[in-house]
Amino acid sequence: MRRFHPNLYRVIQEWEHAKGEPLREISPNVILIRSADLAVKFLRNQNELTIEEQSGFYRSANFNPYPKGVREELSGGIRSLLRKYDPADLWLESFSAMRAETRGWGIEVVGSYFSEIMVRAGVREEKSSVGALRALLRGYIRVVVIEDAVNRRYPLRTAELNMNYYATRVGRILRLLDDGWTESPRDIIDLVCQATGGLCVSEEDLGELYLRLILSLVGFTGITLEWLLICHHEALGKLVDGYPSGGKGDVMRLIAETLREHPTAWRLVRTSISTTTIANKVFPAGTDFVVPTSPKAFEYGSGRLPMNWGLAFGVGESACPGRSGALDALAEIAFEVVRRGYQQESARLSRPYAASLLAPPRMAVRLG
Ligand code: HEM
Repeated sequence: MRRFHPNLYRVIQEWEHAKGEPLREISPNVILIRSADLAVKFLRNQNELTIEEQSGFYRSANFNPYPKGVREELSGGIRSLLRKYDPADLWLESFSAMRAETRGWGIEVVGSYFSEIMVRAGVREEKSSVGALRALLRGYIRVVVIEDAVNRRYPLRTAELNMNYYATRVGRILRLLDDGWTESPRDIIDLVCQATGGLCVSEEDLGELYLRLILSLVGFTGITLEWLLICHHEALGKLVDGYPSGGKGDVMRLIAETLREHPTAWRLVRTSISTTTIANKVFPAGTDFVVPTSPKAFEYGSGRLPMNWGLAFGVGESACPGRSGALDALAEIAFEVVRRGYQQESARLSRPYAASLLAPPRMAVRLG
């Protein structure tokens, strides 16, 4: 029988009613852990890494997670790339007068907006491998980010194979495009090549790291954009005339409210690196524990789940380096979408879909 990713939202709701059950296995080797204390104790005592030291993003089969210095360099690089970022006007063409579907249109639009951060145009253009990389990125965003991470169209095994397929090919091209050290990274290619330069990183691991960054860049931001428009397009419409000279604070509040109710990055995984026993159950090394972004935030009473599962951008050492860049991009893109005329065929909100990202319900929208 084929095994599909579980719909975590449903599992969590059931679990919420099963009072006193500290753990729930949602698929082999993936465990939801209810008590923050338990999670902290387990990960601190049994492993060499604390919750704060692990990362849900900077990891691969061989580097779980990448060493601290590498992660700091990557996060610093992301902040600086996003701070300086000025999208080419080309992105505006990406959603002219089209009928689209949630879940996916936001990711495509954000992908065009951030295209220059993924592969900087110009200096690399003479290399034929740039065309191949762009084609692979389009395929990756469609297949892995939209169809797998958001819509869960594939069984787990196929999802893994899809990731491996893109990671291997992308990693090979990144090696060809690696120009060595540049004073400040021009794009995510420079960033991952330079930050991992001192490590023995395989092509596949390099590709996976790059693609995980693309997933965070376009996946989380794109799905937040879809939620923002679904929840607040009317309020955005009232603010649009004042932007950018005014209204920034109001937009940020709308985005914060969207993320508070629908935290797109709700499912953060930490992997155990030794066998341990919790609540009389033995878990082998390599078990994935779904833990909250902040142990404190996990200590809920009877609130709704997973809406109150933590802070939208994480906390502590592994908090999101893309926060400020994502917020600015969201405001800019959301206003452009509203300015061009955003319509929703149905405003009825049904149950969201909790896969890797907390995706909005399906509905048709019209852009531009
Ligand atoms: C609305 C959009 C976004 C949301 C909601 C979001 C959310 C988060 C959260 C909750 C974490 C903590 C993960 C953990 O503790 O395991 C995180 C980490 C991270 N985010 Fe974002 N993110 C967003 C946009 C971005 C963007 C635009 C980038 C740019 C590449 C990015 C890159 C990362 C990276 C690299 C990490 C790992 C940091 C580390 O482990 O040290 N994110 N993000």
